[in-house]
Amino acid sequence: MYRATVLLILLPLLTGAALAHSGVTNPKVMPRMHLMTDIKDTVAGLGAFAKGTQRFDADEAARLVDALAAQAAGVAAAFEDAAQDPKSEARPEIWSDWTGFTAEASKLEAAAQTMQTESRAEVQFGMRAVAKACYSCHEDYRLEN
Ligand code: HEC
Repeated sequence: MYRATVLLILLPLLTGAALAHSGVTNPKVMPRMHLMTDIKDTVAGLGAFAKGTQRFDADEAARLVDALAAQAAGVAAAFEDAAQDPKSEARPEIWSDWTGFTAEASKLEAAAQTMQTESRAEVQFGMRAVAKACYSCHEDYRLEN
């Protein structure tokens, strides 16, 4: 049952948005979208281990959580500039409530840092906090969650 839950949580996060940034004209908006896409790709790798669609590899899982922690640590810098674009899904609350926004990024970083990666079960468990952090931030700071 738990496996199905992970799948349900992750599916909407990992699909659909792939082309959301096409048509963006503001070059300052592009990097933050690319960072989010990188985050999505990293989490997709961990998700494949959690779901069992990829044979579990503890070294690769450890590498992925390190990458995720580094990506999460880069969120604040990527969003610092309140750049706008018609295609952007960033809510203005990011900049009017910067402390709240960066706290959400820190939650993702902490979820990545505390995730244990010795076994598939540990990755499954750790993915809960990661997925929660994605949703929690998107709910408040991203349009059309
Ligand atoms: C600190 C807040 C925050 C966290 C944490 C966060 N996101 Fe985002 N994410 C955003 C915002 C804001 C946008 C919209 C950016 C824009 O359109 O300018 C976004 C956009 C995206 C996009 C669309 C990118 C595009 O090309 O338009 C994807 C995919 C995404 N996030 C995946 C994730 C995943 C997966 C996680 C968790 C591992 C996550 N995000 C965690 C704030 C966050």
